[in-house]
Amino acid sequence: MLVGLKEMLKKENLNTWDGLQDLIDLATKERETTLKELFHDANRHVDFSIETEELLFDYSKNRLSVQAKSRLLKMANDCGLSEAIELLFNGAPINETEGRAVRHTVLRASASNDPKDAIVHGEVDLQLQAMKLYVDGVLGGSIRGFTGKKIDHVINIGIGGSDLGPHMVTKALAHYRTRLKVDYVSNVDGNAMHFALAELDPETTLFVVVSKTFTTQETMANAKLAKEWIVASLGHDAVQHHFVGVSSDQSAVESFGIQSDRVFQVWNWVGGRFSLWSAVGLSVCLAVGFDNFKSLLRGGEKMDEHFRNEAFEHNVPVMMALLGIWNRNFLNYETHAIIPYTDLLQYFPAYLQQAEMESNGKSVDRQGRKVNLHTSPIVWGSSGTDAQHAYFQLLHQGSTIVPCDFICACRLGNANRSNHEMLLANFLAQPEALMTGKTEKAAYEELLAKGMDEESALKLAPYRTFEGDRPSTSILFKELDPESLGQLIAMYEHKIFVQGYLWGIFSFDQWGVELGKQLAAPIYDEICRKTVSNMHDRSTEQLLQYFLDKG
Ligand code: F6P
Repeated sequence: MLVGLKEMLKKENLNTWDGLQDLIDLATKERETTLKELFHDANRHVDFSIETEELLFDYSKNRLSVQAKSRLLKMANDCGLSEAIELLFNGAPINETEGRAVRHTVLRASASNDPKDAIVHGEVDLQLQAMKLYVDGVLGGSIRGFTGKKIDHVINIGIGGSDLGPHMVTKALAHYRTRLKVDYVSNVDGNAMHFALAELDPETTLFVVVSKTFTTQETMANAKLAKEWIVASLGHDAVQHHFVGVSSDQSAVESFGIQSDRVFQVWNWVGGRFSLWSAVGLSVCLAVGFDNFKSLLRGGEKMDEHFRNEAFEHNVPVMMALLGIWNRNFLNYETHAIIPYTDLLQYFPAYLQQAEMESNGKSVDRQGRKVNLHTSPIVWGSSGTDAQHAYFQLLHQGSTIVPCDFICACRLGNANRSNHEMLLANFLAQPEALMTGKTEKAAYEELLAKGMDEESALKLAPYRTFEGDRPSTSILFKELDPESLGQLIAMYEHKIFVQGYLWGIFSFDQWGVELGKQLAAPIYDEICRKTVSNMHDRSTEQLLQYFLDKG
C-alpha cells in the first residue's frame, strides 16, 4: 500500500538514520584498505557489477567493501526508499515547495494500467501526435517559411533545462541527423545570437523558443532579437511562419506573436531539468526525426522499469546513488567527474551539472532544518581523450581524490574502427591506472631499465610515482543509439532522485537560482538609467561605476 506523502517525507533519512555512526566508523576503519586488497576477492568484479540487456555497469573499482555496501543497502531500506520510488511513479506532489507532482516518467511511459493516469497519458499522446505532425511537416516540406521556401535551419532558443538536455541529445545523436541543421542559442551574451544568425537565411530559418515559464530573461531577450531579425527582412506577417513556442504559458507565447497552433505545451508537473522528454525536445525531434525521439523515450521507459522493479542490489540507479553517498559523505570526496569517452557525449557533463547540482545542491532538509551532512558533490568533467590532456594530471597525482564515471560504448556509429579501438583502450587504461598506480620502486626500476644512472633515477622516481587507489566507475554500453541514450539519461535522473531522497532534501525545486535573478533586475535598471544607487555593497558599486565609465 502506498504510504502517505506527509508520512513519507518525514521518514528517516541518512541524517537521522540510526546506523549512521556505525557506518562512519566502518569507513574510518576501512580507509586503510586499498582497492588492490579489495580485489583479493576473486569475484569482486562480478559482485560489484550490474549487467543489463544494453550495458555493463562496473563499480568494482570503488573503495567500497562488501560490508559497507550491505550497510548502505540496509540504510536505503530503513529509509523507505521503495515507498519513495512508488510515490514518484504514482504522481504524488513530491515537489512540495512548489506544490507540484514530478511526472517526467509519464512522458516516456507507453501505457498505463492505472486509470487515474489515463487523462495524463491522453494529453501526453496528443502532444506527441502534434509534435510528429509538425516535425514531419517541416521535414517533408508541407510546412514552409513565409516566402514558400523549405526550412533548412533551426535555432533552439532556451536556457537551463530548456537548452542543456535537448542540446546534449542533439549532439549525442548526430549520426541520426535529418536534413535540418539544428543549433542552440542560450546565453544572453549578444555574441551568441550574433554568430548564430551570421550565416543564416531568414527565409529558411525556424526558431523554436523554449521556456516553461516564458519569462526567463535570457530566452525572452534572444527571442526578441530573433523576431527583429525576421521582421527586418521579411516583415511582421512572417513571424508566425518562422517561430514556434514551447511553454506552459500558452497566452504568453501568443502575446509574443506565435499563433496558437504553433504552441506546444509543457505541463507544470515537468521540471525544467527533466523536460527533454516533453515538447521541450521538439528541436531534438527536428534534428533526428520523430521515430528516433520515440526510441529515446522508449529507452527512458526501459530504465524506469528497471529502476522500479529491480532489487536494490541489482538496480543501477540505486547503486550509483549509494556509491555517490558513500564517496561524498563517508570518504569525503567533494567532487565527481563525468568523463564520456566520445565526442558525441561532449555536452553530457554540462547537462548533468544542472540535473545534479540544481536538484541536490541544497542545505535545508524536508522539515526545514539545516542538513547535518553534505549533499551534492561538485559535478564536472568533459569528454575523453581530450580530458586526459587537460586535467588528468590532477586525477592521477593531485592532492585531492576525484571519483570518476567513465562512460563509453562498444559501438559508436564511428566508421573508423582503429580510432574507436584506440578510444576504447584509453577508456580502459585510465581507470586501471587510477586504481593500480605505480610504486616509487617500480618507477625507479623502470628508469634504470631505460638506461638512466642510479642517482638520476632516484631523483626522478618520486615524480613518476602514482599512489593509485583512486576510485572510478565504468559504464560500457553496447551501442550509443537513441534508446541507450534514453537509458543513460534516465539512469542519472533516478540516481539524483534516490540521493535527494536519502539526503532528506527536496530535489525538484531550485530556489537557489532566484536571488541572483532578483538582484539583476534593479542593477539592469540602473545600467539603463546610467546611475549607481546606494543600494549596493561598495565593491558592486565600484564595478558598476567602472562599467558605466568604460562600457
Ligand atoms: O536556472 C533556473 C531555471 O528555472 C531552470 O530550472 C530552468 O531549466 C531554466 O531556468 C529555464 O527556465 P524556463 O524554461 O522557464 O525558461
